[in-house]
Amino acid sequence: MTIRWYPGHMGKAKEQIADLIKKTDVIIEVLDARLPDASSNHLFAELRRNKPCIKVLNKNDLADPAITRAWVRHFQQQAGVRPLPLSAKQHRETSQLLKLCRTLAPHRGRPGLPVRAMVVGIPNVGKSTLINTLAGRNVAKSGDRPAVTVTPQLIDLKNGIVLSDTPGLLWPDMEDQTGAYRLAASGAIGDSALDYANVGLFAAAYLMEHYPDRLVERYVPDGLPGSPAELLEASGRRLGCLAGGGVVDLNRAAEAFLREMRAGKLGRISLEEPPKGETVPVCDPPSPTEIRQPKEPLP
Ligand code: G4P
Repeated sequence: MTIRWYPGHMGKAKEQIADLIKKTDVIIEVLDARLPDASSNHLFAELRRNKPCIKVLNKNDLADPAITRAWVRHFQQQAGVRPLPLSAKQHRETSQLLKLCRTLAPHRGRPGLPVRAMVVGIPNVGKSTLINTLAGRNVAKSGDRPAVTVTPQLIDLKNGIVLSDTPGLLWPDMEDQTGAYRLAASGAIGDSALDYANVGLFAAAYLMEHYPDRLVERYVPDGLPGSPAELLEASGRRLGCLAGGGVVDLNRAAEAFLREMRAGKLGRISLEEPPKGETVPVCDPPSPTEIRQPKEPLP
């Protein structure tokens, strides 16, 4: 099954983003920490040129910490890029993002000269959640977004930073079907576009390879079965997804399995690893103390 999602009006979107970027000091690209590459739009790297870019690895509370550390090292190799894992729902964690914005635009952040930060990202990565947490109130609603946004919403955080929200301009790359399946497994693609059985089989195969112990613990105490289909059958039986005659309904079993995985019932799981064989220095993500405050106090 080929997964398709949004139509590609990328030409117009590209022009709009290029225009907006000229009036931006820092770009905040929100990614899903569980699948940072599949949840990005590669066109964006080209559009941002040399503007500083913070890659927010959001939903860090759901992602495998060791894999997220590997992604942080991966992104630290990219010129002008600062990776920052966080959970957009946690105010304390999002405040690190503001400090980093100020560090990356030291010439701004004064009264009348705010840091202009543009929030971008494909749908469902948590842009609205992040903006609402930063603003301390509900200013962004994902459900309100048209497919192609022309005018960015400006949100003055009243702390020397103005955010521009440019939702809907970027779509994931559906040509990459493995990436599309990762997105689908994570819950980023509307369920109406989904074939649960196929996505469930994809996720089951990935977890059998990368997180076998978690599966054994939750569904198959006697050991992993030989195939993803058998795993879904076992988990479906355990979760009560039965059709007539005691037979497991594979579609319902896959849906229940995906729901459990997305809700963190199998622990923190990542669905994608950075490319193997990178020679990267071993260092951890920036801590709050590493992100220096600007010299001048902000209003
Ligand atoms: P978007 O603007 O990029 O389209 O994404 P949005 O903020 O609407 O977030 C998409 C979903 O991801 C929401 O869940 C939201 O609660 C969830 N989310 C965002 N950030 C985080 C995070 O850091 N951790 C976790 N665990 N979830 C996060 P939803 O089920 O679609 O909506 P709701 O049930 O929260 O209302």
